[in-house]
Amino acid sequence: MGQKRKFLKQFKPALKGYSPTATYVDLFGGSGLLSHTVKAIYPESRVIYNDFDNYCQRLENIDKTNQLIRDLRIILKDHPKDSRIHGLARDQVIERIKKEQNEPFVDYITLSSSIMFSMKYALSFEQLEKETLYNCVRQNDYDATGYLDGLEVVSKCYKELFKQYKDLPSVVFLVDPPYLSTDAGTYKSYWKLKDYLDVLQVLDGTKYFYFTSNKSSIIELCEWIETKTPMSNPFNGATTATMNATINFNASYTDIMLYKNE
Ligand SMILES: C[S@@+](CC[C@H](N)C(=O)[O-])C[C@H]1O[C@@H](n2cnc3c(N)ncnc32)[C@H](O)[C@@H]1O
Repeated sequence: MGQKRKFLKQFKPALKGYSPTATYVDLFGGSGLLSHTVKAIYPESRVIYNDFDNYCQRLENIDKTNQLIRDLRIILKDHPKDSRIHGLARDQVIERIKKEQNEPFVDYITLSSSIMFSMKYALSFEQLEKETLYNCVRQNDYDATGYLDGLEVVSKCYKELFKQYKDLPSVVFLVDPPYLSTDAGTYKSYWKLKDYLDVLQVLDGTKYFYFTSNKSSIIELCEWIETKTPMSNPFNGATTATMNATINFNASYTDIMLYKNE
């Protein structure tokens, strides 16, 4: 969720303007996609992946998740794709997932993407059991072989991580904070405007990639920036790239990437 997969087309060429040997600090690592991409393009760079959500745990459990989803695929083999799961099939799906209760960890987020529509997530069996289920089960196993190779994984608040690296030479910050309200569901805590504004301080005088969307309250942001003298607009001199994302036939928003290398 919030993954920058669709932005890679613009992120990769923009990265070409940055040093291949810099230290890249992915302050809001999420699924690690930006860290992974930087390391793949610049193998000589140092890349710090901030795994605040313990995504590594989901990767470590990928075999178990694959097995569970394989079993669901069998249960739903005659069930039309994307259609609602009800009756006996639903009972069987729930029963199979319930069996996982004895396991120390169940990846409910990945599981949700197999049996719930996109953007909907359950974080526990109790939550999942109450949801309307759909057959969105993918046909292939997940494979994360080598995905985190060469990355330095840490897990801490971005503020602390920023402090640690802000004065080192040749550091580039990857800044992809949680969206204001829409994404709050799967994250540990809910992001309020102030939290969102605080993040802008890591852009002051640093090299960065910053991701946001036109759903954020940009006017409030600017008003805040104005009052924070002597800090000026941190986006001055930055390059902007945008990408339209469609939610459904009558709703869309624009994802935005700003970057600055001086
Ligand atoms: C928009 S997502 C990042 C997505 C990521 N770029 C990707 O491609 O998967 C924002 C991430 O910041 C994490 N986060 C929330 N509060 C944080 C904090 N105080 N410090 C660091 N990360 C935090 C969220 O849990 C979430 O994983």
